[in-house]
Amino acid sequence: MSEQDLQLVVASRTDGAEGVVVLELTDPAGADLPAWTPGAHVDLVLTDDLVRQYSLCGDPGDRSRYRIGVLREPAGRGGSAHVHDRLHEGDEVRVRGPRNHFELVGAPRYVFVAGGIGITPILPMVAAVRAAGGVAEVHYGGRSRRSMAFLEELEGHTLHPQDEVGLIDLDAVLGDLAPGTLVYCCGPEPLLAAVEERVAPEVLHLERFTPKDVGDPVRSDSFEVELSLSGTTLTVPPDRSIMAVLRDHGVEMLSSCEEGTCGTCETGVLEGEVDHRDSLLTPAEQAANDVMFVCVSRAACPRLVLEL
Ligand code: FES
Repeated sequence: MSEQDLQLVVASRTDGAEGVVVLELTDPAGADLPAWTPGAHVDLVLTDDLVRQYSLCGDPGDRSRYRIGVLREPAGRGGSAHVHDRLHEGDEVRVRGPRNHFELVGAPRYVFVAGGIGITPILPMVAAVRAAGGVAEVHYGGRSRRSMAFLEELEGHTLHPQDEVGLIDLDAVLGDLAPGTLVYCCGPEPLLAAVEERVAPEVLHLERFTPKDVGDPVRSDSFEVELSLSGTTLTVPPDRSIMAVLRDHGVEMLSSCEEGTCGTCETGVLEGEVDHRDSLLTPAEQAANDVMFVCVSRAACPRLVLEL
C-alpha cells in the first residue's frame, strides 16, 4: 500500500450516533482513491500542526470514496473538535495515507472486540471475513445505544450498551477461544489493556490511537545512530528523539502522530538493539528488532545502525 498525499472533498456528512459524525471523502474530479485493506487508516491534515488518524470504515471495493467516523472528544487535543465544527459538506481536506498496521491476518475464525468509536476499523474486517466465508464474532460496547455508531451494520452480533447490560464480560468472551481464533480489538485504553491481560500475544491484534504507557527508556544517557546509506553517525541525547536529531541534520523524515501510534516513521534497523517505545508492534515484531519507529523508540545499546 503506497502512501499518498491527497486533496479530497467532503462528499457527505451525517450523524452516526451521539457525538459521532460520519464523513465520506471523494476526489473532487471523481478519480479513484488509493486502494486500502481492512484495518487501514488515513491522516486528516487539518492544519499544519493538527494531523489526526482515522480508520477507514467503508467498503475497500468501492474506490470512489473513503468513509470515516469521528467521535467528538471534549478532552482531546482539538482534532475531533476541528472535524466536528469546521468540516462540512463540500469542504476540502488534505488526506495522507492510507496505511495499515492493523492488518487482517487469515484465520478460520475471529473474535472482534470494539469499544465506542473503535468499531470503525472492525467494520470492514467483519465484512471481509463474512465475504470469505469465515466466522466473525463481534462484541461491541459503548456507553449507550445512542452513542454507538453503525449499529444497523452489525445485526446479528452482540451489542453491549453499558447502560443496559454493563461492560463487556471479557472473561466470558475471551475465556475459551476455539483453536485457530484470532482476536482483534480497538477501543479505549482500559478495554485494550483488559483484553491484553486475557489473550495470548500471538493471537491478539490491537490498534491504539493513543500511546500506551511504556515506562522509562532503557538508557538514560546518549547513544549513537549510524545512517547506513550516508555513513553519518549522529548522537542522540536523552532529551531528544531520534527523529528530532535526524531532522536537525537535514534528514527528511515523514511523520504524522509523533507518538508511536501511526506507523509513518517506520525505519529499518540493521544493527543494534532497539528500546521499542511504540504502540504498534506486537511483542514478536519488537523482538525481531528489524524495524523501529523513530519518533519515540530509542536505543537499548550504545549504537544503532539504521537503514537511512
Ligand atoms: S510518526 Fe507516527 S509512529 Fe512515528
